[in-house]
Amino acid sequence: MSDRPGTDRPIEIAPSVLPADFAKLGEEVAALEAAGVDRIQWDVMDGRFVPNLTFGPDVIAACRPHASVLFEAHLMVEAPDELASRYVDAGCELLIVHAEACRHLHRTLGHIRHLGARPAVALNPSTPVDAIAHVLDLVDLVLVMTVNPGFGGQDYIATMEPKIAAVRAMVLEGGHDVDIEVDGGVGPTTIEGAASAGANVLVAGSALYRDPRGLGHAVHELRSLAEAARG
Ligand code: DX5
Repeated sequence: MSDRPGTDRPIEIAPSVLPADFAKLGEEVAALEAAGVDRIQWDVMDGRFVPNLTFGPDVIAACRPHASVLFEAHLMVEAPDELASRYVDAGCELLIVHAEACRHLHRTLGHIRHLGARPAVALNPSTPVDAIAHVLDLVDLVLVMTVNPGFGGQDYIATMEPKIAAVRAMVLEGGHDVDIEVDGGVGPTTIEGAASAGANVLVAGSALYRDPRGLGHAVHELRSLAEAARG
């Protein structure tokens, strides 16, 4: 049995770099660390799995020296097996692959672990939790998408909250040592629902960058709301 059941895993705030100023990403990741984030998520998009194109491994490698917090790569790509090693080499400790993009998900997750990185799996809104029922022993994190992937600034899909709770129940029932992450539309008016449903790692992009009181205030506010929601 896990010694850290889902209810007491620490709340973590993970900024998406998507809304940051791409002309100065090194400074941006340093500012995120200074604001108190727990990890940084890179939304990697290939223009095929999702209709957008973002960060190659060299961009992430260039930013790696500017922050010491964990880098995770959210691989919204058609061929994660082909790209995984590039993002590990770039300095991403945790790699999130989409169940929908993996013909052999069990093998892909094992491959990521073999590369020396921490494997994680993401589920798009329409994908049932059964898709990950047989790989929970292979992952360190499950990401439940609360938007359809591809762009920041979308509305949070609240109907995903029962799905978050279902993943948490599966993790607890199996005694797995797994974080539950939520990504998409997370902000002051939605984070409480995600946290009370069972998420402990909350990805936010727009909500952090649109706070007029700055990144530090936004990170503190989101963490406080999530911790209060869990009671
Ligand atoms: C979607 C992206 C976004 C991003 C967060 O593919 O993964 O969810 O990280 O965007 P916001 O916080 O602006 O909804």
